[in-house]
Amino acid sequence: MEVIEAIRGRRSIRRFKPREIEPEKVEVLKDALIWAPSAGNLQSRRFYFVFNPGVKRGLARAALAQRFIEEAPLVVVGCGDLRIGRYYGERGINLYCIQDLSCSIQNLMLTAFDLGLGSVWVGAFYEDEVKGVLSLPDNLRPLAIVPIGYPAHNPAPPGRVSVDEAVVEIR
Ligand SMILES: Cc1cc2nc3c(=O)[nH]c(=O)nc-3n(C[C@H](O)[C@H](O)[C@H](O)COP(=O)(O)O)c2cc1C
Repeated sequence: MEVIEAIRGRRSIRRFKPREIEPEKVEVLKDALIWAPSAGNLQSRRFYFVFNPGVKRGLARAALAQRFIEEAPLVVVGCGDLRIGRYYGERGINLYCIQDLSCSIQNLMLTAFDLGLGSVWVGAFYEDEVKGVLSLPDNLRPLAIVPIGYPAHNPAPPGRVSVDEAVVEIR
């Protein structure tokens, strides 16, 4: 699949078939995460791959009861690693960590789509609750919850601003 095809075709998926993801595909998803760019190649990010139903339920609760989280066969939680990020001081902690993690999550979602899987970035959650559910150490800040599975719906693309509205060309 062309990259632009994946970029345009990917949709946020919030309903999943009750079908497991093949282990080989899970490994491809992990690979997509680690090969994303990062500030100074410090890779100030860590990922949790959650398959356990009770833990997924806890994550759904921490995310304002967005039930589709527990219905996905796999839930990836992406964290910024503040201990690595602090190498670049405040900018590393408050910006690069988030950007490093975001690059990985975009890779993850595009790769999932290429593998026939659906996903959605969930950002609405109580960080402290997620930290509790996963027993995260203090240096890890949970930034994204991404349920992944075989899609059970095919949403129409929501609109985008026009290219002219989003982009300023300076020649
Ligand atoms: C930072 C971020 C946070 C988001 N948080 C949520 C969320 O908590 N729940 C949800 O259902 N979708 C969430 N989304 C998904 C967006 O609603 C979705 O990407 C947007 O509506 C565009 O639709 P598309 O992904 O199908 O192109 C989030 C997306 C991003 C990038």
